[in-house]
Amino acid sequence: MDNLRENLIHAISMKFFIDTADLDEIQEAADMGVLDGVTTNPSLMAKVGVSDVKSHYLKICEMVDGDVSAEVISTDYAGIVAEGRELVKIHPNITVKVPMIQDGVKAIKTLASEGIKINCTLIFNAAQALVAAKAGAKYVSPFIGRLDDIGQDGMDLIEQIRVIFDNYKIETQILAASVRHQQHLLSCMLLGADVATMPFNVIDKMIKHPLTDSGLEKFLADHAKMVNR
Ligand code: G3P
Repeated sequence: MDNLRENLIHAISMKFFIDTADLDEIQEAADMGVLDGVTTNPSLMAKVGVSDVKSHYLKICEMVDGDVSAEVISTDYAGIVAEGRELVKIHPNITVKVPMIQDGVKAIKTLASEGIKINCTLIFNAAQALVAAKAGAKYVSPFIGRLDDIGQDGMDLIEQIRVIFDNYKIETQILAASVRHQQHLLSCMLLGADVATMPFNVIDKMIKHPLTDSGLEKFLADHAKMVNR
């Protein structure tokens, strides 16, 4: 990375992850230089019809220089630990995504003590985030869009976790998930989330504005008039 780009990016401290298992979307976002990592979940893997999960994760890891969350599907302690240990063999970028359940918390403690990066998922209140952080998770993933869906304000949760983590100097990163639109993203930045993971359509919408399109159209039309004179 050249120095100018490195310095500019350093100034933008919130990381952008893409929430998808679609390789074309990941490549597109990577090519735009906005990608710091990837999150997936079993629903996203199923959506793109992944048959060989491990080789799919490997392909993603080779495309992105950053953490790639791979979710376990076990719900018991021994199963989560065994899956986590297998997943991290795929590539050093793999971060094991573990659900916020009791066995999950125990597994986080074990895996984190082995130096394995953990993203604790399906976080819906600050107490859950605190427990995951104390167990040793690198990331906690509050699902802001799904809270909005049931009439709560997902951003309140980001704010509460930020205050708690700052009060007690907890280094676990807040990874805002279930991001549905640019306003979520901007609010996450205002509130100090460490990472936001978003579907490709949110990244795409960040680029677009009707006045940009109409402005460009006019510039090109005026240029054509000049050269065709
Ligand atoms: O990857 C977890 C999360 O981001 C899912 O989002 O849109 O299914 O609520 P969503």
